Amino acid sequence: MRKLPPNIPRPTTTAKGLTGTQAFHDSAWKHVRGQARYIDDLPEPAELLHAAVGQSEHAHARITAMDLSEVWAYPGVVSVMTVEDVPGHTDIGPVFPGDPVLAGDVVEHVGQPLFAVAATSHRAARQAARLAKVSYEPLPTALTAEAALDQQLFVRPSHTQLRGDPDKALAEAPNRLQAQMHVGGQEHFYLEGQACLVEPTEDAGVFVHTSSQHPSEVQKLVAEVLDLPIHEVQVEVRRMGGGFGGKETQAAPLACISALLARRTGRPVKYRMARYDDMVQTGKRHDFFNTYDIGFDNEGVLRGADIMVAGRCGFSPDLSDAIVDRAMFHSDNAYSLGQARVVGHRCKTHTVSNTAFRGFGGPQGMMIIERAMDDIARHLGMDPLDVRKRNLYGPGRDVTHYGQTIEQHVLPDLIDTLEASSDYRQRRTEISRFNKENSVLKRGLALTPVKFGISFTAKHLNQAGALVHVYTDGSIHLNHGGTEMGQGLYIKVAQVVAAAFQVDLDRVKVSATRTDKVPNTSPTAASSGTDLNGMAALDACEKIKQRLVEFAAETYGVSADSVRFENNQVLVGEQQFGWAEFVQQAYMARVSLSSNGFYSTPKIHYDRGTGQGRPFLYYANGAACAEVVVDTLTGEYKTMRVDILHDVGQSLNPAVDIGQIEGGFVQGMGWLTTEELVYSDEGRLLSNGPATYKIPAVSDAPPDFRVALLPHSPNREATVFRSKAVGEPPLMLGMAVWSALRDAVSSVADYRYSPPLDTPATPERVLQAVTATERWVAAQGEPSCKNA
Ligand code: MTE
Ligand code: MOS
Repeated sequence: MRKLPPNIPRPTTTAKGLTGTQAFHDSAWKHVRGQARYIDDLPEPAELLHAAVGQSEHAHARITAMDLSEVWAYPGVVSVMTVEDVPGHTDIGPVFPGDPVLAGDVVEHVGQPLFAVAATSHRAARQAARLAKVSYEPLPTALTAEAALDQQLFVRPSHTQLRGDPDKALAEAPNRLQAQMHVGGQEHFYLEGQACLVEPTEDAGVFVHTSSQHPSEVQKLVAEVLDLPIHEVQVEVRRMGGGFGGKETQAAPLACISALLARRTGRPVKYRMARYDDMVQTGKRHDFFNTYDIGFDNEGVLRGADIMVAGRCGFSPDLSDAIVDRAMFHSDNAYSLGQARVVGHRCKTHTVSNTAFRGFGGPQGMMIIERAMDDIARHLGMDPLDVRKRNLYGPGRDVTHYGQTIEQHVLPDLIDTLEASSDYRQRRTEISRFNKENSVLKRGLALTPVKFGISFTAKHLNQAGALVHVYTDGSIHLNHGGTEMGQGLYIKVAQVVAAAFQVDLDRVKVSATRTDKVPNTSPTAASSGTDLNGMAALDACEKIKQRLVEFAAETYGVSADSVRFENNQVLVGEQQFGWAEFVQQAYMARVSLSSNGFYSTPKIHYDRGTGQGRPFLYYANGAACAEVVVDTLTGEYKTMRVDILHDVGQSLNPAVDIGQIEGGFVQGMGWLTTEELVYSDEGRLLSNGPATYKIPAVSDAPPDFRVALLPHSPNREATVFRSKAVGEPPLMLGMAVWSALRDAVSSVADYRYSPPLDTPATPERVLQAVTATERWVAAQGEPSCKNA
């Protein structure tokens, strides 16, 4: 204990690694050295068995016979089970029923699990699973969103959001355009495939290690298939090698199958999907078929819009209800639609059940209005950036088509800043000149915004819990309901705890997410991980601090407000104690040094019946300016330069946030350009491995890539340290690349024609767009600019 001399100012905070500092990802060193443990790296328990499943060969068929005798006979096979052998629930639909854990009489997609095998090796299990003799009676199929629309096949009812009288606004508008487009899906391609390891416990229960974004749901579903109370199942997630939404619901089937096999055999079971199986058997980003009918004035400002978004959901609802909702919520992106109708369809198809993927339907919804912005510009002969700027929400035009008022207008200034810092106007002039002078290579430029709503639209999910222990040496243990998938959630919440106690970050240790530490958690999703768990952890810290303050005030006879936490110390009136020393004193005085914490998001509501409400606490914003060059003879292209300005509020960790922005952008660019899911006419996925499915490589990243955080932009809402969510929104910055490709192609018609360009805009599709543009020019009876 040391006394501060009077009248000397107290030290300001110098504790290391608090919020706002660039602390390393807590596993950064382990990641790069290969020391971070994923499920398949865990030491294998004795007697371990490996799981595999037999897969449907048909997209839609009745199973007339299934002979598993050769599967049983394969060397190493210990158990084989079908749906008949499931003691509890056989439907593991996460929100709505529709997902049989193993197929019954009817199969509804190629790759659907028919039966499960446990064998002494991974290879034996997979080999054996191929030996079943299954007879099918094929049934009619619908494989695309359009086919499902024709046949009126939906996994959930359609839904409409309406504001004003769009029909009248459209009829009266000086200009009107209609278009349709296909927006492609996306394979998650997490580096760690789906995996889990289940060990029977000494009672009837199981312990589950899973690579899941939603441990509580895995816990509940495993309990249900085993017909156990939830407390018999413990689930632990240390980290995922990427989730991207693909492990929100889709990790659960593996855990359920492994748990069933573990129960049957009394032995631990590991189920790790081979990449090929993972690609065929697990859901992806929904591809969408979207249409618009828009009316606008001669300045390019929207008066009315009638928009349809139709997602290919696959055979079961999974999360599609909420995903198509989010597509509807984002079909305005950053623009006031005027009088608007937005209709969303959840198309049922005989394909794998599509699922969450970074942006959760939002990106697919935004694409239709971004297409419209470019189309308006070409129609009126304006620069697309001017059309975008005129249509932005702003004071006086601030109510969305679902009735939420935009309260913080970040984008108008953000876009102006990016326009200046990226030299948009000057480059536009240069590029136009280049395109006039060059007949084969054409350059394109686009600046597109993102406005993304933050909160789960299923209100009950907006809650979180945390558990904080302070030990007698002053070290702190943190646990919360969020999962780590590489996004840096653990380090950010640890920084929040360090900031709460004003101690160095290395005093805080985060442990693996576990259902027996923090119960009833929501998935780590909707970009809300830090917002929710950060606030819950802060609540726990505040409770402990409150007790410490009361103890200090009582013991040293000072008022509560003269107790302060600063720079690894506790200041009590004139006295100063080291953090650990003070904690020790509190322990000796029998003060509880552990607390849970809880948070639920305020202000949010949405009525699906009326399609109106305030579904989001706030919006995250950003904008990207992309430049591309296209070879009009082959359709090949390259992204040359990208400038991004993104709003993360008051950043908790600028290094992690910039990492999220760079990674999100590149993933979004991949989605819109090279990543193409191809199905056969029989509904079989043909792009089922890295050789046939092209994710961006380091050589595809823009050689000139400038990413900045919007400065001085604290969240208007009382979020954790006024930060904003960052996980998903940057993915949609990739739209700038797609728009720049259209811009380059449009130059072939001197920017008078807006070429259709469905996504992914592969070189083939870009070449088709060039051809369509040349045809348009020829039809005008003028020479093509390309050959001029
Ligand atoms: N970043 C990495 N490195 N890996 C991931 O799997 N998932 C994204 C995003 N960023 C992901 C990621 C998705 S889909 C979401 S919803 C958020 O992270 C989830 O984490 P957060 O809520 O903590 O941001
Ligand atoms: Mo992210 S798609 O919400 O897991």
